[in-house]
Amino acid sequence: MSKISAAITAVGAYVPEYVLTNQILETMVDTNDEWITSRTGIKERRILKDEGKGTSYLAIKAAQDLINKKGIDPKIIELVIVATATPDMKAASTASYTASKIGATNAFSFDMDAACSSFLYGMSVAASYIESGRYKNVLLIGADKMSSIVNYKDRATCIIFGDGAGAVLFEPNSEGLGFQNEYLRSDGSGREFLQATYGGSSFPLTHETMDEGGHYAFQEGRTVFKNAVFNMADATVKILERNNLTKDDVDWLAAHQANKRIIDATAQRIDLEEHKVMMNIHKYGNTTSATLPLLLNDYESQLKKGDNLIFAAFGGGFNWGALYLKWAYNTGN
Ligand code: UT7
Repeated sequence: MSKISAAITAVGAYVPEYVLTNQILETMVDTNDEWITSRTGIKERRILKDEGKGTSYLAIKAAQDLINKKGIDPKIIELVIVATATPDMKAASTASYTASKIGATNAFSFDMDAACSSFLYGMSVAASYIESGRYKNVLLIGADKMSSIVNYKDRATCIIFGDGAGAVLFEPNSEGLGFQNEYLRSDGSGREFLQATYGGSSFPLTHETMDEGGHYAFQEGRTVFKNAVFNMADATVKILERNNLTKDDVDWLAAHQANKRIIDATAQRIDLEEHKVMMNIHKYGNTTSATLPLLLNDYESQLKKGDNLIFAAFGGGFNWGALYLKWAYNTGN
């Protein structure tokens, strides 16, 4: 009997309609389009403006897009994982609500948070469930409403983040396609450099901390940048070495979209040609858990069965890693 591998067999996505451009940000904080573009590569990002709508709204839309495109009955889905750093609520899981709303009534579900690496780690988890043979349809959604934890008075963070969601379906594959290998790491000493301090169990919200904006995400950008460049590039090199791949074997690099300079540095480290590097940071900014599936959605029509994809991510925690996956289908476009 051939070994079961875990393949991505469908992709879906959703971004909110409202476009927050660099020009609009110029009217909100002391910044300018030239600075943002040259330092980050970002031109605009999407923001979910509607009051009362949280991350689940984005996740549901992305999942519905996948379900419609693939033409599946949501009742076949056995597990729904929502990778997110901005769940709807503290106690009730966003994934449970999402699963019910999309009609995945036969599924169990849970949230996963590893900050910007949530989706990367989520791929590892989803693939493991499939490889175990216990489940045949696992829906992994990466969704974040970053605008809910961004301080629009802090120019060091508000220019970077955006809202969005993407979804992928994992299914068993008997041709050896799909998930191949991973290199995942964490270092908790990094948490002081990127965090939303108040509102968790260590430091519950108070009126005073709210007035001071302690519930918003803040980062020491330069330190995070250095660590991201080093670790994403290092993980990418390690995953190639572990699998005896050269850069010529790599068809696509799908790297977390936090800063174009970090992505470029990762690609340069393995000397990868620019046309193999997926890029959409200019349109969406850093959508945290949604960057990788949004890339897959944007590039889906160009991906061919058997293509070697290398994923890489780095985020708060710190958490980072790289993952090697063989693409499993042609879209026919
Ligand atoms: O997803 C994972 C988490 N996040 C990341 O991976 C983000 C990693 N960090 C970064 O992308 C970059 O560090 C930033 C984009 C946040 C900042 O870029 P930088 O090139 O590292 O700038 P910097 O923080 O070193 O600041 C350089 C200058 C400073 O002015 P002085 O001290 O040189 O006078 C800042 O005050 O740029 C200033 N600055 C700005 N100027 C205009 C900082 N933010 C802005 C801004 N507009 N928005």
